[in-house]
Amino acid sequence: MAKDTLTITDNRTGKTYEFPIEYGTYPKYGATVSALDFRTIKVDDDDFGLLTYDPGLTNTASVKSAITFIDGEEGILRYRGYPIEEVAENASYLETAHLLMFGELPDADQLAEWRQSILRQQFVHEYVKKFIDGFRYDSDAMGMFVGTFGALSTFYPQAVKVLDEKNRIAMAKEIIAMAPTLASWAYRHSTGLPYVYPEESFSYAQNFLYMTFKQTAHGRGFYENEKLVRVLEQLLILHADHEQNCSTTTMRTIGSSHASPFVAIAGAAAALHGQLHGGANQAALGMLERIGSVEAIPAFIERVKNKQERLMGFGHRVYKHYDPRARIIKKMTDTVLRETEPDPMLDIAQELERIALNDDYFIERKLYPNVDFYSGIIYKAMGFPQDMFTVLFAIGRISGWLAHWLEMFHDDDRKIVRPRQQYTGYDVRKWVPIEER
Ligand code: CMC
Repeated sequence: MAKDTLTITDNRTGKTYEFPIEYGTYPKYGATVSALDFRTIKVDDDDFGLLTYDPGLTNTASVKSAITFIDGEEGILRYRGYPIEEVAENASYLETAHLLMFGELPDADQLAEWRQSILRQQFVHEYVKKFIDGFRYDSDAMGMFVGTFGALSTFYPQAVKVLDEKNRIAMAKEIIAMAPTLASWAYRHSTGLPYVYPEESFSYAQNFLYMTFKQTAHGRGFYENEKLVRVLEQLLILHADHEQNCSTTTMRTIGSSHASPFVAIAGAAAALHGQLHGGANQAALGMLERIGSVEAIPAFIERVKNKQERLMGFGHRVYKHYDPRARIIKKMTDTVLRETEPDPMLDIAQELERIALNDDYFIERKLYPNVDFYSGIIYKAMGFPQDMFTVLFAIGRISGWLAHWLEMFHDDDRKIVRPRQQYTGYDVRKWVPIEER
């Protein structure tokens, strides 16, 4: 008879073990056995027990989470059960943040209160300007964002009281509220423009465009263009959460030591910075510019297939199907270029996608465009320099990082993250004095 257990025979000892199998919402995904059960498998009483080996945690469920569901085979993404397409179509970013962080869509009164409390807190301490002023004029925007969030922890020493739920929520609100201000000021610093203060009556996305582009050569009126404001809002929503990715896992890992959420956010943003993660949007546009023309695409594809290059903005650990976020962003690209100006990079991107999707190399490996393939074209059209692209990703993802951080404190299985290793170094050696080396 079928049973929800796993039976293992250790051929070193001939002993048999039976472990329970647990399921989440869907039997197809997330059937798990406890890794600690494997520790009971020993050759004798002195043996430490069997460890599971999983570089990159590709097959390890490190948490139980009720926030986001991805079906990578079918290209499905849902926030708290709501399909991403519906959330992106109907919600505001702050409504999405509420859904992710507290589990439910707010009613009208809750939304008004939540919105007002965030928008009121968008001012940051005047001293923050001094940190930003301290960066060189040509500093990478993401480096400034990471550094400033880390520095902000010194303004909120009470943030380390992470076991107090009211305090956690208060700090989470501060973080969401300040992110656009810090990001826009990083941009203003690198362009030598005066910092712009937040405007309480604007929406979250509109305020960010306003603080970034007020009186700039390009993008200055964009905060008054409803279509562009809505596109930015939708991009923030599409980036808001993606379950246990590298940066979210970093947020949970840092959070598991009860560090201040401000430094945990700095750490998560640092993880996002890399080109294989959030930095891919910047790398993807750089790649399109390097390719330079539609005619040059076949030669580039050959270099990718020969492993001399990676097709940035393509491929995903979880999606083995078209990323649903990329589908929405691709459509938005047309809207934006109609409002701004045409960009030949779009032709290159579309042709690159067409060729790749018909090539056996990409078909066999199930490589499709991800969220970063088209977003860079939109950001560029809106006037953002390339080093701001990952910062834009980070502003959206902050609500996801915080949702996971908040969820973590309600998890009875929560422990400080501390993996094991398989030691492959020397056995004990005799110390060699320096003159004998
Ligand atoms: N271009 C060319 N080949 C690729 C690519 C790519 N973008 N992605 C994967 N492959 C190949 C890879 O070479 C390997 O081939 P082989 O079996 O011959 O060795 C195979 O596909 C499997 O790749 P992998 O590196 O084992 O897959 P992974 O799950 O470890 O990596 C990834 C996932 C996202 C890091 C990878 O697809 C990649 O580097 N993509 C480009 C960077 C990128 O766009 N990152 C953004 C991801 S979406 C936003 C986010 O959540 O951060």
